[in-house]
Amino acid sequence: MPRAKVKQEKPQGRNRYDMDEYLDEKVSLFNIKRCLKYLAGVQNPLKAALLLSLLGNVIALTGPLFMQRALDVAIPHKDVRLLLILAGLLALSIVVSVGFGAIRNVLVAKAGQSIVHDIRSDLFAHLQKLPFAFYDSRPHGKIFVRVVPYVNNVSDALSNGILNFIIEILNIFFIIFFMFQVDSQLALMAVLGLPVLAAFIWTIKPRQRRAWQAVSNKNSNLNAYIQESIDGIRVTQAFDREERNRGIMDNLAADRNDEWMRAQYISNTVWLSTETISQIVFSFVYIMGAYWMSPMASFGMLLAMGNYAWRFWQPIINLANIYNTFVTAMSYLDRIFDTIAEPVEIADTTNSYDLPPIRGHVEFRNVTFHYDRTRIILNSVSLDAKPGDSIALVGPTGAGKTTIVNLLSRFYNIDHGQVLIDGHDVMNLTIRSLRRQMGIMMQDSFIFTGTIADNIRYGKLDATDAEIRAAAELIGANKFIENLSDGYNTPVTERGGGISQGERQLLAFTRTLLSDPRILILDEATSSIDTGTEQMVQEGIRVLMKGRTSFVIAHRLSTIRNCSCILFVQDGRIMERGAHEELMAKKGHYYQLCLSQ
Ligand SMILES: Nc1ncnc2c1ncn2[C@@H]1O[C@H](COP(=O)(O)OP(=O)(O)OP(=O)(O)O)[C@@H](O)[C@H]1O
Ligand SMILES: [Mg+2]
Repeated sequence: MPRAKVKQEKPQGRNRYDMDEYLDEKVSLFNIKRCLKYLAGVQNPLKAALLLSLLGNVIALTGPLFMQRALDVAIPHKDVRLLLILAGLLALSIVVSVGFGAIRNVLVAKAGQSIVHDIRSDLFAHLQKLPFAFYDSRPHGKIFVRVVPYVNNVSDALSNGILNFIIEILNIFFIIFFMFQVDSQLALMAVLGLPVLAAFIWTIKPRQRRAWQAVSNKNSNLNAYIQESIDGIRVTQAFDREERNRGIMDNLAADRNDEWMRAQYISNTVWLSTETISQIVFSFVYIMGAYWMSPMASFGMLLAMGNYAWRFWQPIINLANIYNTFVTAMSYLDRIFDTIAEPVEIADTTNSYDLPPIRGHVEFRNVTFHYDRTRIILNSVSLDAKPGDSIALVGPTGAGKTTIVNLLSRFYNIDHGQVLIDGHDVMNLTIRSLRRQMGIMMQDSFIFTGTIADNIRYGKLDATDAEIRAAAELIGANKFIENLSDGYNTPVTERGGGISQGERQLLAFTRTLLSDPRILILDEATSSIDTGTEQMVQEGIRVLMKGRTSFVIAHRLSTIRNCSCILFVQDGRIMERGAHEELMAKKGHYYQLCLSQ
């Protein structure tokens, strides 16, 4: 692929797909509190792990003392028994500390997975409640990355990271204590490098955090693009856009890599600096010990001291590494917790009550609505549908038909006016009781992965096979279902793979009929119907509408003309209303529409 050409296209790719989220400068206290909430659930295994680690570390730290005694006492005095005992103790200290370490690792791994599970299930539960408006406003790939890779990434930092952080801090104190047991002057020297390192880490910290946040942004952009490409693969291939899309993807991936390299560079600098400072101090202790204090320092003492000095820097290097993981994790946690904090704008309040079984009287009173602040979509819409009425909504594309029915099901909150069902304002009702009594078939009827029967049963989980068959027969979907290889047990996929658009719609009708709603909403896409299924779909719609208050956004005259009332919607207003004959006689917008068909 010609890379140079791709580079030229970069500005475009940037504008469309490279949309970063904000970069937060500080670790928010709020997020730390949320972390603690998840940690609380696993505090017992973590406490046990902490205890095991501390015991293991203290036991391991006795090792150099045994060596010192062996070198300074047992060997010079040729005391074989003491030497053997010391060797045995050294071996024992190693075995015990390693054993404790192994148990600790299991405990921490379990705790980590449990945290992942808790965060992910909270996140998913929250996503299920978030309003359409949330999903309207961002690429779905960006939501996906938060639920899967980001959550995976934070588990280690939250379990192992925090535990190790505590352990290493305590380790530093233990080691200092042991060092002073050996020789206080040498110990002081080893501790001298500490402030230098602390100052260094403190300065580089904000840069490091920002760098990792930028990486998470680029990751998210890349993921969003890949997800979109998978969803849109048919259009891509139809328009022969594969090459160009590869170019966009390459740019996004290159951006991500650049950002990652930068973050890695900063992290490496931290790591390298700690490593260097530790080596310098380590050598310093040996030189000091060997030259200046040779009269006082025994060989064993020097060996033990060197060992402690080396161990002393280990926790500090570890702390820097933990800090690295923690910084990365925090940038992911920001995004995760932001999503969890995203307000569920459409939610029950303490004053919400259940909608009692309804007759199906629907009223819109001067409803005004906009999706975003920029443009009013519905302008003072009023309508009144008596139980059993069938209302057809017609009008040009973008007129606001779908918007009207979206408000009836309260997928969005209205700005002004009221939507009433049997006299109850939808704003005061519990969402569940409201939607349970409505059958909603959207413009793009979604088919879930599973069997045909699973899909029909979606809204009524306790439906028996007989009920499913009966519903399919009423709609007329049984004919095509029975022709499938496995009948009702034929697997279908997300995109409705394996069945036609019209068949998908029949399936959606059956699903709705089975849940037996009082109010029916049918938003029909013009293009979805193939002529072969047309008759069946017509019949399906007729069956569904019988005895229910229905709102039908239809494009076929045959469906529309049978409705008790037709509303002609344009620019967010109802321009004409009445039965077919009335509107035809009026020779207005509706008349024009019928003529054009
Ligand atoms: N989620 C959204 N965010 C912002 N604006 C939107 C959103 N959905 C629709 N709109 C805008 O609101 C207006 C009405 O849209 P609506 O979907 O109600 O039209 P419609 O009458 O159903 O059209 P169609 O016949 O093409 O389905 C359109 O101008 C559209 O651009
Ligand atoms: Mg629409």
